[in-house]
Amino acid sequence: MSYHAEYTKSVEQPETFWAEKAADLPWYKQPEQILSKDENGMLRWFADGEMNTAYMALDYHVEQGRGDQTAVIFDSPVTDTKQMFTYTQMRDQVALFAGVLKAQGVSKGDRVVIYMPMIPEALVAMLAVARLGAVHSVVFGGFAPHELAVRIEDAEPKVVVSASCGVEVKKVIEYKPMLDEALRLSAHKPACCIVLQRPQALAALLPEQDIDWQEAMANAEPADCVPVKGTDPLYVLYTSGTTGKPKGVQRDNGGHAVALKYSMKAVYDMNPGEVFWAASDVGWVVGHSYIVYAPLLAGCTTLVYEGKPVRTPDAGAFWRVCAEYKVKALFAAPTAFRAIKKEDPEALLFKSYDTSALKTIFMAGERLDPPTYDWTVEKTGKPVVDHWWQTETGWAICGNLMGIEPKPTKPGSSTLPIPGYNIQILDTEGNELPRGQQGSIAIKLPLPPSCLATVWGDFERFRTGYLAEAPGYYTTGDGGYMDEEGYVFIMGRTDDVINVAGHRLSTGEMEEIVAAHPAVAECAVIGINDPLKGQAPIGLVLLKDGIEVDEATLEKELIAMVRKEIGPIACFNRALVVQRLPKTRSGKILRKLLRNIADGKEYSIPSTIDDPTSLSEIEGIMMEHGMLNKA
Ligand code: COA
Ligand code: AMP
Repeated sequence: MSYHAEYTKSVEQPETFWAEKAADLPWYKQPEQILSKDENGMLRWFADGEMNTAYMALDYHVEQGRGDQTAVIFDSPVTDTKQMFTYTQMRDQVALFAGVLKAQGVSKGDRVVIYMPMIPEALVAMLAVARLGAVHSVVFGGFAPHELAVRIEDAEPKVVVSASCGVEVKKVIEYKPMLDEALRLSAHKPACCIVLQRPQALAALLPEQDIDWQEAMANAEPADCVPVKGTDPLYVLYTSGTTGKPKGVQRDNGGHAVALKYSMKAVYDMNPGEVFWAASDVGWVVGHSYIVYAPLLAGCTTLVYEGKPVRTPDAGAFWRVCAEYKVKALFAAPTAFRAIKKEDPEALLFKSYDTSALKTIFMAGERLDPPTYDWTVEKTGKPVVDHWWQTETGWAICGNLMGIEPKPTKPGSSTLPIPGYNIQILDTEGNELPRGQQGSIAIKLPLPPSCLATVWGDFERFRTGYLAEAPGYYTTGDGGYMDEEGYVFIMGRTDDVINVAGHRLSTGEMEEIVAAHPAVAECAVIGINDPLKGQAPIGLVLLKDGIEVDEATLEKELIAMVRKEIGPIACFNRALVVQRLPKTRSGKILRKLLRNIADGKEYSIPSTIDDPTSLSEIEGIMMEHGMLNKA
């Protein structure tokens, strides 16, 4: 099968194309309605199909004789632990934990928030929720209580599942105090919290609120899979938008399973029984799709890694894991490879492991800069595939189909549109632009299976945020162009979203926090280029009239505020006091211009600017504080 034939069929006959892919999965009742409209007028996939995602991911494989195969490998250099779980063991653990949840009243459609580190129990919890036909919402462990509280309030879970702690490099992060604080902040209170005690830190359980995971499992009855419709939600995953309120991306069961199963062969060239490793975290979409669901739907072995690319214990960590478990495909963020390159520039540690089983390295989550691409190709000798996607889609929008027809790559490009995605570059009026011209990257409707159905509880936010800019298209929030051969080049976000170490964050949210400081009148937070983490946020603040502060103390206070509200992963480590912020005459801060100045890029002064002298003034302050990047 050629890429061209596959792609053309997917956009010209989407229903036939996806009906064939759906037939590859064990539905309780195969869907007959392939594409139909929902109550909001949105096109949805497989509305009348009946299924259960956890059944497809676990029970089905056991029934097919795969029960003794390893489903999950847990490798935790930070706790010195290695464990393997077969498909039968995972199914049994999941059925038992589903029984625990059921005993707490969780049933179809109820939400369960999961706030856990990278341990196998996080997968057990997610799959157990899916088994009951309930809806999980996993919150990344690096988020502070405030962020967790916002998500609990929005998802209104019946139960929260957590652990006593996570383990970072040489430090134990206690989760329970953060969970307790989040519950104090949240107006919504769950019926109970189920807490897994880890030996690195035992949590104080509150008798009226908390249930001990192990005790509950010891007394539980396994629960059966509950059938759901293809369009019933599997999960809600919150992601950063342009405001302080994160968006709950709602994912259907049916389309999700179909697209992910298809992607395992088409995109990643994975076959049942092979080992797939997404070095991400279950708190992010990459973790949802490629640590948990896709490898299991495809009958592969997945890896849960509690560690870093460096310092656990060294820059050979990735290669050690690949060699030890015969990983066939490794998927990680470019930041991870920049970190490895920094500590082991000649890749000497790579050479000390037998990575012959590793066929391809996939990267996503942020722009793959050509020097990192070149280094990884040169030092490992493996094909490196950049693929572009987002929380909203749940799988790649552009990439190189390693299981269908690998195409030559072009540094800086995430190759070609993935089947199902009719990508168009639009101008500001919503007109399709010719090849070579840069604009807003949009997907012509219908979106393929797995893409978000709505924003949880707020279809209007979905409509205005993604569909209103250009009728008939979904706007991705990324800008870029397609070359003559159809290769897609992603040039960056067109909104206030930034990517720090592959973590998606909102500068708008950081601005709201910084602006709450009593000394601050106004501020702009912008993402500037960072050699390790891709982007890093910096704050530019204007003081209230008549207020005198020590600037170093103010900077420390602002850093502490962002850490407290969002968490350390925001990496907000610099704030500068400025006299003026460049604005348009209508009062809009010119953030893009500020970014260009900070990154030492050429910029033209817009005619709408209120006072052009504010630009040289800011440039001077940034230079004085060593904040100007060289282009
Ligand atoms: N729980 C709690 N805290 C966490 C956390 C988690 N799961 N993950 C990160 N943090 C904390 C870190 O401890 C650190 O805190 P500190 O400021 O108190 O030291 C802070 O958040 C920043 O962490 P991080 O961005 O991971 O920086 P680092 O310097 O510790 O590590 C890298 C640098 C490059 C090794 C690391 O960023 C990395 O592995 N990046 C790849 C991430 C990735 O896979 N992203 C893709 C998601 S698809
Ligand atoms: P997230 O929702 O966290 O996956 O972040 C999605 C955003 O990350 C996208 O909208 C892009 O801005 C960026 N991104 C993800 N993958 C890539 C890539 N391969 N190249 C460039 N940007 C990427």
